[in-house]
Amino acid sequence: GKIRVLEDEVLKDPPRGKLGIAHTRWATHGRPSDVNAHPHRAGRIVLVHNGIVENFRELREELQASGRGFLSETDTEVLAHLLDVLLERTGDIKKALMELYKAAKGAYALAVIVEGFKNLLIGVRLESPLVVGLGSGEFFLASDVPACLSYTREFLFLEDGEFVLLRREGVEAFRLEDGSRVSRSPKTIDWSPSMAEKMGYKHFMEKEIFEQPRAVKETIMGRVSLDRKTPRLEVEYPHDPGRIFIVACGTSYHAGLVGKYWIESMARVPVEVDIASEFRYRDPLVSQGDLVVPISQSGETADTLVATRIAREKGGYILSICNVMESSLTRISHHVLYTHAGPEIGVASTKAFTTQLALLFLLALDLSVKRGVMPEGEVEALLKGLLEIPDMISEILEGADGIKKLSEEFFDYQNFLYLGRGLNYPIALEGALKLKEISYIHAEGYPAGEMKHGPIALVDENMPVMVISPNDPLLPKVLGNIEEVKSRKGIVIAVKTKGFDGVKSDYSMEIPDVSYQLTPFLTVVPLQLFAYYVADIRGTDVDQPRNLAKSVTVE
Ligand code: M6R
Repeated sequence: GKIRVLEDEVLKDPPRGKLGIAHTRWATHGRPSDVNAHPHRAGRIVLVHNGIVENFRELREELQASGRGFLSETDTEVLAHLLDVLLERTGDIKKALMELYKAAKGAYALAVIVEGFKNLLIGVRLESPLVVGLGSGEFFLASDVPACLSYTREFLFLEDGEFVLLRREGVEAFRLEDGSRVSRSPKTIDWSPSMAEKMGYKHFMEKEIFEQPRAVKETIMGRVSLDRKTPRLEVEYPHDPGRIFIVACGTSYHAGLVGKYWIESMARVPVEVDIASEFRYRDPLVSQGDLVVPISQSGETADTLVATRIAREKGGYILSICNVMESSLTRISHHVLYTHAGPEIGVASTKAFTTQLALLFLLALDLSVKRGVMPEGEVEALLKGLLEIPDMISEILEGADGIKKLSEEFFDYQNFLYLGRGLNYPIALEGALKLKEISYIHAEGYPAGEMKHGPIALVDENMPVMVISPNDPLLPKVLGNIEEVKSRKGIVIAVKTKGFDGVKSDYSMEIPDVSYQLTPFLTVVPLQLFAYYVADIRGTDVDQPRNLAKSVTVE
């Protein structure tokens, strides 16, 4: 259920106390139910856990054999029992945590309370995110920074394999391996508390869509030379790689697909784009001198992290694109290009996507300049175009009401097909993902030219087809696809260039006229709005759609 249901329950009889732990569980072992919900208690230990204990079955059997009884199906309860046993055995909580580290394999972050230690909250970080917020007269443990922004902007960032003891008197951090003390200075985050609030919007997703002009502008700012003729990325990286690998998941993967088109066409370097969960299991042919670009909004996506580690071990140079400072991805990268999107809270990724595009575009241009591929004038023209993108996004957002009206016509359909070509094929994938994840309507993204190899069989009067058809060199081909849909009675909604009448669709959403290379920045925005309004009419939980988590920190 929802957190507000819990809040209502708790407020009927608020617990009194000075420290507490809670956790929103994303079910891995054991279905969502009260008995599987955290915290789990065993003996003196009460804990919450984010992650997976890989050897939990073996541990559970051993613990059961020694007489321990279990109430839930979770791996978390195993940790609670194990820590309790180790505390009994060693009589020392630090030693017990170090023993736990040796025994429990996997990725986990823990917050622990121990009966009898009234003034102690323990945090453990092992390949799952955990930050310590340093407030005024109070401390916080959380999976990410936005959770604490209304209380503090000072954070202590733990490394993997560390634990922290929070007491009224202060915070102490240690290594799990040998118990040695960690001394690290806190950092001040430049995100403001209001960034993590809705500011009058109905949902975070809506706010985040409308923030895109600012987010893209801030991501570009400072990364273009003063004369606006060349990109100026603030990081060094090998600019003559044999090959570039992009690894990511979900929306970040779609940004990577756009990046491939840009890098290959502007810098003429071959690019492979992989879904991180596939890359990690296919023994990828990364070698010394290859450039690897992981993309992640959160910097905590488990599959992307493992894929990155594998690429690094094979000699790849890791230049990641990430939105969250000090996240796990940033620590395992040689260099990081930060998107300046600010905290993204809605589960559906929007401003992270367009800011990732901005960095990929600059990276493609930068590589092109360093490799001497494109004439100076062309680079300058593309940069000029990029600098105009924030205003053009604003122009689309001004027409949001029209898209809302359109969504009223379509909210009740069961299936959608999204088609695009070239740079706009990944946008078709992204548009379909947005619609399915928040409205629960089935939607497929397809390369328009591939439609006749299968999906066209689905087209009839009940199938709205969203065709991304800006005025670009591929438009004649896309117009052909529109005809194919219409002659099978499909309903065509076109994302088209304003003022261009050549697209014969049933409905349309318009973008300003822009050069082909820059179209993805604009074509995605009406699709985000459309998905948002459809979901809102359907009354789904837009910011926290069912079964999804903002950061997927488990495999
Ligand atoms: O934080 P990341 O960019 O690594 O997240 C990757 C995906 O989990 C994420 O983009 C997901 O697909 C979003 N819900 C899409 O809107």
